[in-house]
Amino acid sequence: MKKIFAMTAAAALLGATGAASAQTVNVICSVQAEWCNMIATVYARTTGVKLNMSLKGSGEALAQLIAEKENPKTDVWFGGTGDPHLQAAESGLTLEYKSPSLPQLYPWAQQQAQQSGWKTVGIYSGPLGFGYNTELLQKKKLAVPRSWADLLKPEYKGDIQVANPASSGTAYTMIATLVQLMGEDKAFEYLKGLHKNVGQYTRSGTGPIKAVARGETAVSISFVHDAPQERMQGFPVQTVTPSEGTGAEIGSMSIVKGARNLAEAKKFYEWALTPQAQTFGAAAKQFQLPSNKATPVDANVPDFKKIKMIDYDYAKYGASAERKRLIARWEKDVNSLPR
Ligand code: G6P
Repeated sequence: MKKIFAMTAAAALLGATGAASAQTVNVICSVQAEWCNMIATVYARTTGVKLNMSLKGSGEALAQLIAEKENPKTDVWFGGTGDPHLQAAESGLTLEYKSPSLPQLYPWAQQQAQQSGWKTVGIYSGPLGFGYNTELLQKKKLAVPRSWADLLKPEYKGDIQVANPASSGTAYTMIATLVQLMGEDKAFEYLKGLHKNVGQYTRSGTGPIKAVARGETAVSISFVHDAPQERMQGFPVQTVTPSEGTGAEIGSMSIVKGARNLAEAKKFYEWALTPQAQTFGAAAKQFQLPSNKATPVDANVPDFKKIKMIDYDYAKYGASAERKRLIARWEKDVNSLPR
């Protein structure tokens, strides 16, 4: 009798731990791998819940959620530029959820939530600029580009990299920024001019700054906060923001509508908004401005006050029809042209 009891208890115990370790949250992670991996490790250690990470650029993540719409396999979409998160909200792909932590966030992060009908939330922000390889510019006797206009100069031909806006939120942020700075037709004339100087359009938004770091190209159009990590690895990378003005992303997070692990998804979402969880960005050498006002701001985080920022219209450029239209126009009017 005693033996049977002991066995049952052991089985129950095993069952319980089995159930605990079976708890998972399926996450599409659109920040850099170092940050995704760090939160997965920390979260599993502290909660026993496994984060199944799938790393995807912002545009690719949205495409996956659209493909999975009838049968969602993703619970949470963590990070990536805010425009496609707003498009996902408008397209009914993500769940309305009003976090009790919202008042702890900066106004820009709360506004992102409000504009989406509480279907997404800002987790970080960062400005767009140019990265450059100091040694390569010197070797090629090229000046540091200081304005959008500078990037059209013929001496940069083949030496500029930017990502493809269909897969990358970084590149879409660039298009939306230029449209807001110049007006749409002028922005597309500009993009055609830039196309002549672009050596390669990469899939991922961070591809170009990594190419700059390794000396494969002299200049990139990148988020400024993606440079310090490369510098810390010893690469000769610096950044500059364009004198005409620039845009910023509101990196966002959304819970997928129809998420299979909804209760756990909400717990992870709440955790990701805490100051403690937000310190793992800087710990993984990712230097966006965190959205919780109580998160310590690392010295490497770009100082927005020193940058000429445009008043980026997130609602307009995150609208589904607008984002689709601008990307299609870029494919047709720009990417199809010979270089
Ligand atoms: C990097 C940046 C993030 C940004 C993301 C967008 O990870 O550090 O701030 O949100 O790129 O990636 P994507 O490939 O969509 O341009």
